[in-house]
Amino acid sequence: MRYLTMALTKGRLAKQTMQLLEKVGISCEEMTDPATRKLIFINEELKLKFFLAKGPDVPTYVEYGAADIGVVGEDTIMEEGRKIYEVLDLGFGKCRMCVAGPEEAAALLNGQEQIRVATKYPKIARDYFTERKNQTVEIIKLNGSIELAPIVGLAEVIVDIVETGSTLKENGLKVLEEVCPLSARVVVNPVSMRMENARITKLLDDMNRILTLK
Ligand code: PRP
Repeated sequence: MRYLTMALTKGRLAKQTMQLLEKVGISCEEMTDPATRKLIFINEELKLKFFLAKGPDVPTYVEYGAADIGVVGEDTIMEEGRKIYEVLDLGFGKCRMCVAGPEEAAALLNGQEQIRVATKYPKIARDYFTERKNQTVEIIKLNGSIELAPIVGLAEVIVDIVETGSTLKENGLKVLEEVCPLSARVVVNPVSMRMENARITKLLDDMNRILTLK
C-alpha cells in the first residue's frame, strides 16, 4: 500500500485537524512535540504522511499531487484558484472576509469612487469590487498587518479576514461590508480521488461522522 499524503496548514488549523483525526483513530505522536522543527511526519501503521506548509502553498501541493489531501482555509482556496476538489467543511477556523476601514470610508463604497484597497487577497478583492459592486479600484497587495494601510494612508480600505474583530477594534477600524463567511476545508487532488477513492472516502466519512456528532 502506498502512503496517502496530507498537507496541513501550519499553526492552529494543523492542531485542530490533528485533534479531529485523533478522534477517528489517526494519531501522529511525533507531531505533538512542541519543540520539533520537523516538517514531515509518518504514521507507518496506517501508511499516512503529514506535512506542514504555509496556507497559500497547500492548494499548490494538492494540485500537483505532492499531497493527496489538504486542509486549508476557504479564503486561500478562493484566492489560489487551483484545480482541486473541495470536499469537506471542517466547521472550524471560522471567520469572515470583510471590507474594513475607518467609519468615514463607508461613503467611498458607493460604486463611484476610485479608491485604493490594500489586501493579502488581491483576487478576492478584485472579484468583489468589480463583479459584485461594479466599482473600479486599485488593489495593493500586502503580506500582513493589513490594518496598517488605512491608518498610514496607503489605502482607503482593506479586504481582510476578521475573526474576533479585536485587531480592527484596537486600530480604530470597522467592518464596512461582508464579502463572505469562511471556514477550514478539506481539499483533494482529482487524480488521487480516483486512484485512492476507497481510502480517501473512508477518511472523509470518518471525519464527517465526528463533525456531525458535535
Ligand atoms: C489575521 C487577519 C487580521 C486578524 C484578524 O492576521 O489578517 O489581521 O488575523 O483576527 P481578529 O479579528 O481575531 O483580530 P494574522 O494574525 O494571520 O497576521 P497577519 O497580520 O500577518 O496577516
